[in-house]
Amino acid sequence: MSGPEVSAADRAAFHRIVRARRDVRTGFLPDEPIDDEVLNRVLAAAHAAPSVGFSQPWDFVLVRDRATREAVHRIVERQRAAYAASLPRGRAEAFASLKVAAILDTPLNIVVTCDRTRGGRHVLGRYTLPQMAPYSAALAVQNLWLAARAEGLGVGWVSFLDDAGLAELGELLGLPAHLEVVAYLCIGHVREFADEPELATAGWARRRPLAWAVHQERYGRRALPGEEPMDLLAETLDAITPGSQEAAAAARERLDRMTKPRGSLGRVEELAVQLAAIAGACPAPIPEPAAVAVFAGDHGVHARGVTPWPQEVTAQMVANFLAGGAVVNAFAAQAGAEVCVVDVGVAAPLDPVPGLVPRRVANGTADMLSGPAMTREQAKAAVEAGIETARDLVTAGNRCLITGDMGIANTTAAAALICAFTGVDPVLATGRGTGVDDVTLAVKTEVVRSAIELHEPDPADPLGVLAAVGGLEHAGITGFLLGAAAQRVPVVLDGVNAGAAALAAIAFCPAVRDFCVPGHRSAEPGHRLALAHLGMDPLLELDMRLGEGTGAVLALPIVQGAARALQDVATFDSAGVTEKSPDGDG
Ligand SMILES: Cc1cc2nc3c(=O)[nH]c(=O)nc-3n(C[C@H](O)[C@H](O)[C@H](O)COP(=O)(O)O)c2cc1C
Repeated sequence: MSGPEVSAADRAAFHRIVRARRDVRTGFLPDEPIDDEVLNRVLAAAHAAPSVGFSQPWDFVLVRDRATREAVHRIVERQRAAYAASLPRGRAEAFASLKVAAILDTPLNIVVTCDRTRGGRHVLGRYTLPQMAPYSAALAVQNLWLAARAEGLGVGWVSFLDDAGLAELGELLGLPAHLEVVAYLCIGHVREFADEPELATAGWARRRPLAWAVHQERYGRRALPGEEPMDLLAETLDAITPGSQEAAAAARERLDRMTKPRGSLGRVEELAVQLAAIAGACPAPIPEPAAVAVFAGDHGVHARGVTPWPQEVTAQMVANFLAGGAVVNAFAAQAGAEVCVVDVGVAAPLDPVPGLVPRRVANGTADMLSGPAMTREQAKAAVEAGIETARDLVTAGNRCLITGDMGIANTTAAAALICAFTGVDPVLATGRGTGVDDVTLAVKTEVVRSAIELHEPDPADPLGVLAAVGGLEHAGITGFLLGAAAQRVPVVLDGVNAGAAALAAIAFCPAVRDFCVPGHRSAEPGHRLALAHLGMDPLLELDMRLGEGTGAVLALPIVQGAARALQDVATFDSAGVTEKSPDGDG
């Protein structure tokens, strides 16, 4: 037995080691062997890990043989190539410069395995949760990792293995069939330890604030101990501040000094200034990688005959996006952007596949002519799903967000939102959407008019407006814009549904406008009105009316080009180019 006291020095040392532990892939000293005594201490620490039912399901296979390591290296390289091929271009370029394994650079590799059968049939705590066995083995890895750091040894975890690779590894190591590989670790002496994760330094991903991960009593009541829980919407609104005037001024000044006639890039110059203001830096970082979030939802108002398309098409198109077969996928592939689909309210079951972000608040909205489309709670939950999506995409390393939408009948809800926020007549705001005929357009317009008359939404209460006549995807996109602004990244707006959501987001917080880049103007009349109301001049006008994020994705290269010009173009003084005389006209 020992008392609970820990000396201040021990405590400080422990926390220092925890903070200083790194996943190491570069800077190993391959020829410096690890002393057996040191290695035994590290393995003893691993073996001291907690385990389910004290089953100690781990084994440690120490691999020094060069031929074995070369074989594993080949397996990992194969998997690395497959992963690289799966990445959008904006990511693939960054990945090319990352090292993911140091198999041949360390004198020792350690394979940590898990035996799910160890301890027999009645392992205490593993009775209904078999995954507790590999969890326990992972704890042994963590102990090993920390102990190695305390000994000045670097460790790198390699998980670039698929099922075939794991089987080959099992063969190479002579692993019995009942053992599974939990971790492949490269361990050795290093020149130094980085202060921050290499992926953070490389801009691949960011550390999430601890406060995002701590919830009081119920999920969603986020607060650190000793702090008052704040709801996500209030916290996000609190975090949004306008773009930086200083960075904007620096960008204007730099644009004037760049080797080109003043103002010759036209509106691209305004865009460059906006990007600098958003980043709070001149030049602004290139808005890459970029991610399109397609918010998908169904609409109770579909029952009113506002579109000839059946509601099932929403779910079918979601499947198409996830399979890579839609126009937004083609445009995103061309622009090098990632596509994800956020299910905030599709009215059909969806298979959990990579790229689907399951955040369903309801199986579609209610009919806005029978009552509000959503409760305020539902609208808020969808807004918060949008905020979280933006947060997650930005912490995953994206530097530009793009709105997308999918929802049969959503242009009816968009028109109603635009009427509510701008006060225009439904005849002006309601359009043909997918291309409805005159009769359907008349029905649709009357539906919008009746909904506005029924709910009399108050534009000063954006959540109330969204709940009364909006769609779950409009609420989701609203949150996405708020989240982008709070994270200070540019967000490129797509068509009429994004325009409607931008009206809501800017009603929540006017400073959101500084972060929105209007990608294009769609053929929907309501979109023109929304953009005019917001004083936004879109980058493109191609008579598109598809949605999905397609117009915004086409605008992405312009946004990236604006930042690139600000970053790369020489100035008159740096390039030694003579400026025209102030009174010349040429
Ligand atoms: C389960 C697991 C698997 C990992 N697999 C790899 C990998 O295959 N290649 C790699 O370079 N890093 C891998 N890492 C390391 C992480 O990228 C690293 O832990 C993370 O970026 C945080 O950095 P830090 O460990 O230095 O704090 C893995 C980490 C864990 C926990």
